Amino acid sequence: MSDALQYLLTSRPEAMGAYFKFMKAAGRGLDPKTRALISVITKVGAQTESGLKQYLTRALQLGVTPNEVLDAMLMAFPMLGLTKITWAIDIILTMEIPEFSPVALHAEARWHRIASMTAFTLGTTTRLACDEREVFVYRSEQTLRVYDSRCPHQITNIPALALQDKCLTCPKHGWVFDISSGLCTSGGDRPLREFPHKVDEEFLLAYW
Ligand code: FES
Repeated sequence: MSDALQYLLTSRPEAMGAYFKFMKAAGRGLDPKTRALISVITKVGAQTESGLKQYLTRALQLGVTPNEVLDAMLMAFPMLGLTKITWAIDIILTMEIPEFSPVALHAEARWHRIASMTAFTLGTTTRLACDEREVFVYRSEQTLRVYDSRCPHQITNIPALALQDKCLTCPKHGWVFDISSGLCTSGGDRPLREFPHKVDEEFLLAYW
């Protein structure tokens, strides 16, 4: 939520409470993906950059595809106009979301070869690049996890330096994650995106 909305919620709780109640009730008949897409379009219409980043991230987490986002924006052309659509596309491009690259738009999900298992020492976390994406690989005696390096808040690419022991802190707004579980322990409410993985002939593979 923006600082402005937070301020209004504090200073005019009854009016703003009714507003949020209305918004919730208005979308009751919609499935979550459709609701998320409409939210993205409203942020494009209002041209609020942080809102667009936040709702776009949420839509992708709910399973909306980049092609669906692009189609929704183009279908809203009569209301948005080309200027707002290109404004939104410019912001999406600055976010460097791997799934929005022209190649990825037409690619099927598949297994990606990350690295030899010898690259991952027990009890450590390794950040590495693979097929236009960066991942964190956490390995312990009991478990192995592969996470997207993108923050679940606004898709910031979290750098290796953000990791202290098992604590990963996104530099953009300070959400903190436990790298051993992926859970957000402070600042936010969503976990890191985890990819399914398997080990094949001593090579780690992940699916996205
Ligand atoms: S992008 Fe906001 S905390 Fe990471």
